[in-house]
Amino acid sequence: MSRMRSTPLKLSVVLIAVFTGFMTVGLAVAYALMHETLSADIDLRADQVIAELAAIPEEDERLERAGEIASAADPRALLIRFTLDGNTVANSPDLPDGVIHEDEVPLPEPTIADSYLVRHADLVPGVLMVGIGRDSLSELVETFVSILGFVLLPALTLTSAIGIVVVRRTTARVEAIRGTLHRLSEGELGARVCAPHSDTDLGDIGRDLDRMAEAQEAATGALRQIGADIAHDLRTPIQRVAVRLERLGDADLPGAARDLLDRAQTETAQIIATFQSLLQIAQLEGGQGRDGFGPVDLAALMHDMTEIYETSAEDAGTTLTLTIDDPLPVTGDRHLLSRLIANLIENALRHAPGTPIRLSLAGKVLTVADGGPGIPEGKRGIVLRRLARLEASRSTPGSGLGLAMVKAIADLHGADLTLGDAAPGLTVRVSFHA
Ligand SMILES: Nc1ncnc2c1ncn2[C@@H]1O[C@H](COP(=O)(O)OP(=O)(O)OP(=O)(O)O)[C@@H](O)[C@H]1O
Ligand SMILES: [Mg+2]
Repeated sequence: MSRMRSTPLKLSVVLIAVFTGFMTVGLAVAYALMHETLSADIDLRADQVIAELAAIPEEDERLERAGEIASAADPRALLIRFTLDGNTVANSPDLPDGVIHEDEVPLPEPTIADSYLVRHADLVPGVLMVGIGRDSLSELVETFVSILGFVLLPALTLTSAIGIVVVRRTTARVEAIRGTLHRLSEGELGARVCAPHSDTDLGDIGRDLDRMAEAQEAATGALRQIGADIAHDLRTPIQRVAVRLERLGDADLPGAARDLLDRAQTETAQIIATFQSLLQIAQLEGGQGRDGFGPVDLAALMHDMTEIYETSAEDAGTTLTLTIDDPLPVTGDRHLLSRLIANLIENALRHAPGTPIRLSLAGKVLTVADGGPGIPEGKRGIVLRRLARLEASRSTPGSGLGLAMVKAIADLHGADLTLGDAAPGLTVRVSFHA
């Protein structure tokens, strides 16, 4: 699943984006408001100095007061220069109007502010220059940078980290549920989510899904049992019918009747074979068959099977090749294992007619591949069920039990069965663990 399709991921990204957006806008608005207030305050302080001197009517007193202010002023906060009738009192050289940066103020560096707001006023008589230190504004910037660095960035990092953990966890849960659904729909009835015990909704969904799968498996098991029971109960009567038909064959019959009898015998044989297979699969699934286990040389067995089917392949106009890379001694039932190989070869002959059949044994994996139409991915689980046949095979003989038998035999031997794409054709892999 592509990560961007994950709902929790999208939600986390949106939440973090909204959070960051709000914080940034909030901080920006707070900064703008505080900046305005501080600027207004600086303006006011300049106005106050101008107003104070302007309010003194006597020239001498005005000059004297300006001198007091200049000698008392901390140049960091206030620069002042007053000139009246050629006399100047000042703690600063003359500076132009406006916002002046510290580089433009010819005073020793550590005693001055980062910048000043400079105003000139003509007090008639007398010319006044006032510079108000703007350190409060630089401090404001520093404060906001600190808020950004110590609050916003850690908050963002933390929320992102939490987001990632939550997304990972939820994605894993969703993946587990999706995977289980996929396996169930492929026919693997034993698939379960096994959600850990927690009170999240996804955990609940997982447990509900497991309960549903449990019920489905039980129902399928019951059906299977009914199937086996029916096969079991009908086998004896149908065998009796076969025996009677055989006896009928001994009688002297007209040509048309013999034809009908032949067909009836073929069909009863088919029915008996189907019942036999159904019963045998049920027995294998019940674990019966392990009694016959012994050492089997799988390479030699494949060699024998290839020889047996070589002529059938030739008759069908194709070839059967065997490649053995590694010998594989297994513990199993020789008869059942040859049945497994036979079913796969017969399927290739029947469902992929005229295409070369390749058998191989390498690294504990037995493979049978053909060059036919193959089985679409979505159907690979279904064909393993008993009596399942694909639409395309309706016209071929068979009862849809071959692969179910292969699966049951593989399971009995603890081997994994996988159907794959031979591009073109079907690859059946039986992976042994022995
Ligand atoms: N090699 C193959 N290539 C393409 N389709 C296949 C192949 N093997 C099996 N199938 C499909 O899977 C279905 C099930 O196979 P399975 O062997 O269980 O039954 P069958 O061959 O139809 O009958 P049976 O084996 O009982 O005589 C087949 O009907 C066919 O549609
Ligand atoms: Mg078959």
